[in-house]
Amino acid sequence: MENKIICNCKQVSVADIEKALHEGKRFSDVEKAFEEVQMITHCSTGCGGCHDKVLDVISQLMA
Ligand code: FES
Repeated sequence: MENKIICNCKQVSVADIEKALHEGKRFSDVEKAFEEVQMITHCSTGCGGCHDKVLDVISQLMA
């Protein structure tokens, strides 16, 4: 699960997203967390097709 690639374009895995989340401060909502994770990992900056998957992972990690 940890090494599962969520964003194929940018080769961003669940572990990468988790790490990026921990680098950021505490986020009040998933959208802010997404922006931060995107800035750090560049996920969802290619085709954009992984957007919902990335959001899913973030909300699971934040739960
Ligand atoms: S799979 Fe993430 S931008 Fe294309």
